[in-house]
Amino acid sequence: MYASGAQLQLGNNPVSLDTWKPSQSVSRAVFLLVKASQMAAAATSFTSSLSAPTPSSKAAKAAARTLAGLNFGFLSSTSKQLRALKATSNGNGSGVGSAIGARMVSMPAIKPPASLDFETSVFQKEKVSLAGHDEYIVRGGRDLFKLLPDAFKGIKQIGVIGWGSQGPAQAQNLRDSLAEAKSDIVVKIGLRKGSRSFAEARAAGFTEENGTLGDIYETVSGSDLVLLLISDAAQADNYEKLFSHMKPNSILGLSHGFLLGHLQSMGLDFPKNISVIAVCPKGMGPSVRRLYVQGKEVNGAGINSSFAVHQDVDGRATDVALGWSVALGSPFTFATTLEQEYKSDIFGERGILLGAVHGIVESLFRRYTENGMTEDLAYKNTVECITGTISKIISTQGMLAVYNSLSEEGRKEFEAAYSASYYPCMEILYECYEDVATGSEIRSVVLAGRRFYEKDGLPAFPMGKIDQTRMWKVGERVRSARPAGDLGPLYPFTAGVYVALMMAQIEILRKKGHSYSEIINESVIESVDSLNPFMHARGVSFMVDNCSTTARLGSRKWAPRFDYILTQQALVAIDNGAPINSDLISNFLADPVHGAIEVCAQLRPTVDISVPADADFVRPELRQSSN
Ligand SMILES: NC(=O)c1ccc[n+]([C@@H]2O[C@H](COP(=O)([O-])OP(=O)(O)OC[C@H]3O[C@@H](n4cnc5c(N)ncnc54)[C@H](OP(=O)(O)O)[C@@H]3O)[C@@H](O)[C@H]2O)c1
Repeated sequence: MYASGAQLQLGNNPVSLDTWKPSQSVSRAVFLLVKASQMAAAATSFTSSLSAPTPSSKAAKAAARTLAGLNFGFLSSTSKQLRALKATSNGNGSGVGSAIGARMVSMPAIKPPASLDFETSVFQKEKVSLAGHDEYIVRGGRDLFKLLPDAFKGIKQIGVIGWGSQGPAQAQNLRDSLAEAKSDIVVKIGLRKGSRSFAEARAAGFTEENGTLGDIYETVSGSDLVLLLISDAAQADNYEKLFSHMKPNSILGLSHGFLLGHLQSMGLDFPKNISVIAVCPKGMGPSVRRLYVQGKEVNGAGINSSFAVHQDVDGRATDVALGWSVALGSPFTFATTLEQEYKSDIFGERGILLGAVHGIVESLFRRYTENGMTEDLAYKNTVECITGTISKIISTQGMLAVYNSLSEEGRKEFEAAYSASYYPCMEILYECYEDVATGSEIRSVVLAGRRFYEKDGLPAFPMGKIDQTRMWKVGERVRSARPAGDLGPLYPFTAGVYVALMMAQIEILRKKGHSYSEIINESVIESVDSLNPFMHARGVSFMVDNCSTTARLGSRKWAPRFDYILTQQALVAIDNGAPINSDLISNFLADPVHGAIEVCAQLRPTVDISVPADADFVRPELRQSSN
């Protein structure tokens, strides 16, 4: 909920949220409903199901629809006759009557995040107003590469440690950007002894002969800026030795706050004689490289990044972090803290970015096929629909446009699916956030990393494959027959589930005090602009397994939880005739996040990521399994 008088900054023009209309052609009727519900819902924020009726019932009833005659992504075979599902909001904003356990409908209350302002003497800082909150960013572009020598003052060598997903992308982008800036800063790769990645790094032009490839610790001790891009679990197990090799006053660069979370869990922090910064691309390494290469034609393209300055021993940290981000090609860089970063990032990848989207397509594919849909069509109506059409619409026009693209009947299906899925998705997301915030999830990742190797007399358990089931084989067939550029259908039921998941994730992050830049990048942009296009091109393992080890482990652990809760609760609720929760729908339509997404979309580069058939920027072990 935003306060009356709040403003959006659209380009240079502040727009009052009292008069703001989403550009994606929200109909007059919906808009009026939105306005009515905005006023009404002010009183419903976290209204308990026992509380007295609130004014929201009027708006809610205006949105209520009778849902006879829809197919709701197929009713279960035991429920062939669809009951008329009438919206039965009792006006208390509680969603009572829903067969699922959610007890409240909350209008988003906006808790102001901690101030994340920063000072830079090299780059131009811009203020953006997102849903009434001022946030500060630095816009990227290849025209800024000339500023890199200034930003990296005092740095002669950048050590990039690790060659997984981020390592190859960041090292090559940095090398190209510095070359463009005519800088003589050396980018050197450091790898563990016996690493299989030496050959890959050499193939990318980093060699022992020219001094740009070497041992991990020798590279750390010779670098002024050390980008630590080995797996998070390996960071947790090797940090003492790594820190001991760093030069005093050098800068440790992370692409994740994970290590801080691990140190905090033991009551520790970083050594005080080094600066500690982070630049965290909100997308997987192959996207960071791919978009950078595509962006060479258009003054830059890339993946947005957050940045954090955790320790600054000599005042250089902010400009070094911003220079690093600009050199990677980030279209915009926003501020966060290492702690907010690891909480939102580990949570987000277990949620809509990887785990949850994997879980919901498994659940929906099973439902659709069990109820008579052909496998090919079911695949198109789940995966293709999300990774193609829905992602494209959200990326370019926002979530409301998905709803507005549907027919009257399609909207009813969307609303039913949304109503049934929102709270079940939120339940798992909420648990996940708390597991991350309390350190449980970090601990789980560190322990899993140790089980990759034999110990305690027990065998090694590296990660298993995830794309071997029937559904993903069908996916291979569907993709091979797909006409170029085909984005798949817009299936309303799938859209309702997916958008409900997205909104539930946004709401958790918002209630936990994250900035809108972080919320939107972690819940929307990374999903539709970076990850989903990979699943569209190559299936689920390409999407999940090109991410970090932390993310891959999390996806394997949490995807089944989302599959379970949708199957066991949301879909059962629909089959049992659960009513549309019209308060939830009106809150969705009125949510200020839509305006904030629109502002972020204006910072988006003009190119969409393309994943060519011969994509050689993926992890070596995945090239063999590509199709
Ligand atoms: N992947 C993403 O999409 C993404 C996005 C944003 C941020 N991040 C962050 O970026 C950082 C790097 O992640 P990543 O996904 O690029 O890498 P990763 O796949 O998680 O890790 C791969 C790298 O870690 C090295 N490694 C593993 N165990 C090691 C050990 N015991 N000692 C030394 N090196 C070891 C591997 O060495 P070998 O080459 O020898 O196997 C490989 O180079 C992490 O902090 C991650 O959270 C990742």
